[in-house]
Amino acid sequence: MGEIATPEPKPGELRIRVKAAGVNFADTLMVRGTYQAKPAFPFVPGMELAGTIDALGQGVKGFSVHQRVLATVEHGAFAEYVIARAADCAPIPGSMDDATAATFPIVYGTAHAGLDWRAGLKRAETLLVLGAAGGVGLAAVEVGRAMGARIIAAARGLERCALAQAHGADVTVDYAQDDLREAVKKFTGGEGVNVVFDPVGGDIADIALRCLAWEGRHVVVGFAAGRVPQIPANILLIKNIAAIGLFWGAYRKRNPERLAASIDALLSMWERGALKPLVSERFKLAQAGEALARLSQRQAKGKIAIEID
Ligand SMILES: NC(=O)c1ccc[n+]([C@@H]2O[C@H](COP(=O)([O-])OP(=O)(O)OC[C@H]3O[C@@H](n4cnc5c(N)ncnc54)[C@H](OP(=O)(O)O)[C@@H]3O)[C@@H](O)[C@H]2O)c1
Repeated sequence: MGEIATPEPKPGELRIRVKAAGVNFADTLMVRGTYQAKPAFPFVPGMELAGTIDALGQGVKGFSVHQRVLATVEHGAFAEYVIARAADCAPIPGSMDDATAATFPIVYGTAHAGLDWRAGLKRAETLLVLGAAGGVGLAAVEVGRAMGARIIAAARGLERCALAQAHGADVTVDYAQDDLREAVKKFTGGEGVNVVFDPVGGDIADIALRCLAWEGRHVVVGFAAGRVPQIPANILLIKNIAAIGLFWGAYRKRNPERLAASIDALLSMWERGALKPLVSERFKLAQAGEALARLSQRQAKGKIAIEID
């Protein structure tokens, strides 16, 4: 580890004094050099944060110095200062604490984009969420619930299942013990689910694909289990199933306005009490390695924050 100079904002950018940063599974991949984006080493990890604006680049409108904002960045959030594009920042509601704000945009943004934009989840449809006690999984349970879906939350162990239930799942399946396909059949009267939200991949993804109903949608979100599933085309054909990819971060380049509108809408939902983010653990900046290990060792529940004094 070493020190780096405080960065200067370019036109359209903000410098933020970071108060807290969110930890994501993607950070664990990026520090190993196995994520799709591969910054040159050494680099500062961390993709989301909350703090106060410290300096404004030329031409930035709608923000002011000392204002509290949350932001997403390609990397660099585990630091005292960060540069973010104004387009990737949003004002923090007054009563939202820094750790909650810092851990909010990626998981809720991903859940919203996956369920609404990509899967077109409709009210009263049935949604199966894999890894439902993890960061993006728990957010998908809450967003799916807010969209009026019936939720089956699948996770490893009773404690993690109970957490997903407390955040809005109608039923839970402990996939370390129980047969996921049988449990889905039982809950859906043999029909299967309309949408699978899948941040896990691996063997459980293979099973989840076979839990889909006629015209079901399988949203491929991530591969926390380590294996990228190979989707058999015959399964898609037989039941008119769609396998749909989601790379939320790509919208930061391709359509930042759409992302900003999504985050605003999600923050409004939080203000109305429709979302209940869980920050289960908080670490200091010097403990960032321990925080990352909680995710790579499959121990994190909801979100983990790094707090910066
Ligand atoms: N596509 C996108 O735009 C996007 C955006 C955000 C995140 N993601 C991806 O979504 C996945 C989850 O991210 P996250 O930040 O929510 O991570 P997380 O909080 O660590 O959640 C991952 C979940 O996956 C399950 N899991 C199964 N096997 C695992 C293993 N071998 N190691 C670790 N976890 C395992 C765990 O639940 P159980 O132990 O209960 O099975 C865990 O709760 C990652 O692959 C990430 O890259 C994608």
